[in-house]
Amino acid sequence: MSRFWSDHVSALSPYVPGEQPRVADLLKLNTNEHPWGPSPKALAAIKDAANNRLRLYPDPQAIALREALAQHHGVLPQNIFVGNGSDEVLAHVFNALFKRQGLPLRMPDITYSFYRSYCKLFGITPALVPLTEDLSINPDHYLPEAGSPPVAGIIFANPNAPTGRALSLQDIARIAKANPDIPVVVDEAYVDFGAESSISLLKQYDNIVAIHTFSKSRALAGLRVGYAVASPAIVEGLMRVKDSFNSYPLDSLALAGAVASVHDNDYFRDACNAVIEARESLTRNLTELGFNVLPSSANFVFVTHPNHDAGNLFTALRQQHILVRHFSLDRIQQYLRISVGTPADNDRLCKVLKTIITTSLP
Ligand SMILES: Cc1ncc(COP(=O)(O)O)c(C=O)c1O
Repeated sequence: MSRFWSDHVSALSPYVPGEQPRVADLLKLNTNEHPWGPSPKALAAIKDAANNRLRLYPDPQAIALREALAQHHGVLPQNIFVGNGSDEVLAHVFNALFKRQGLPLRMPDITYSFYRSYCKLFGITPALVPLTEDLSINPDHYLPEAGSPPVAGIIFANPNAPTGRALSLQDIARIAKANPDIPVVVDEAYVDFGAESSISLLKQYDNIVAIHTFSKSRALAGLRVGYAVASPAIVEGLMRVKDSFNSYPLDSLALAGAVASVHDNDYFRDACNAVIEARESLTRNLTELGFNVLPSSANFVFVTHPNHDAGNLFTALRQQHILVRHFSLDRIQQYLRISVGTPADNDRLCKVLKTIITTSLP
């Protein structure tokens, strides 16, 4: 608290990212990074771009990247908005699309916690919809009921975080169709690991905004690149907000690396498939250890053990230099979210968990 702060600052609820500690031999399974590296072609392009041209500003329109992404997704560059990580894209989405007549924003009670931080930052009231008993999103809860108060928009992650559960394309279409006059924002940070992208619905429903990131399936979390795919009118609104804040959110190195990553589709597909394979084997191994593993379409699993407290397991793993994520929130405090590692990482995790479970008290 400082007497120099603007009025709203003391009331903010800043997002708390997963730890990034510098401990030797640490197995980091807490922030859903990709266990393998980015495309070698992306790395080469970044190195290549580190030259004297860095004295120039980057392209404020990021045309080359928007063209590459448009081609990748079968849309037009006017459908693409890029930003400094999908967190920044989300911030612009909240600012540009959800501040409407003081109406609340409909979203799941358990989802990516940054949405609540943005609500606080932008003065938006969340209208929280509880997940069902099995921690899934019930699409019926996002259809407007006769007489129910209006909302400014809808946002959810698909697959949802931290559960990993995904909605089908039909369910998303139903939500978009039933809410034609408000934005339906689908955060698809993890969609490449086994869910269906809502981008294919854009031709039918101009209220859909799909948010993607290079941090997960493209293994470029350190580069900070994210994007939205939406109607040209929505993209124009996002551009207006971006250009009132920072015209150059993506630097020249990020632009070069991101374009090369999009062009290296074979590497992208193979790397996604390797994670999916590792996730299935991790799921089997954790199930054998007695964990209940929610069905995951993401690069992490959300697990609970009937006989062991999740907080204790978290601490015991940390002592063995394995970092996973534990949320002390009602309904999910008995769960751990574990990022999928390489097969060697997953073996190490399961061996340590086996020792903890067989030697410790519940
Ligand atoms: C659901 C979801 N959306 C968005 C993000 C932010 O990703 P980025 O690194 O692109 O800012 C994350 C990061 O973990 C996430 O889990």
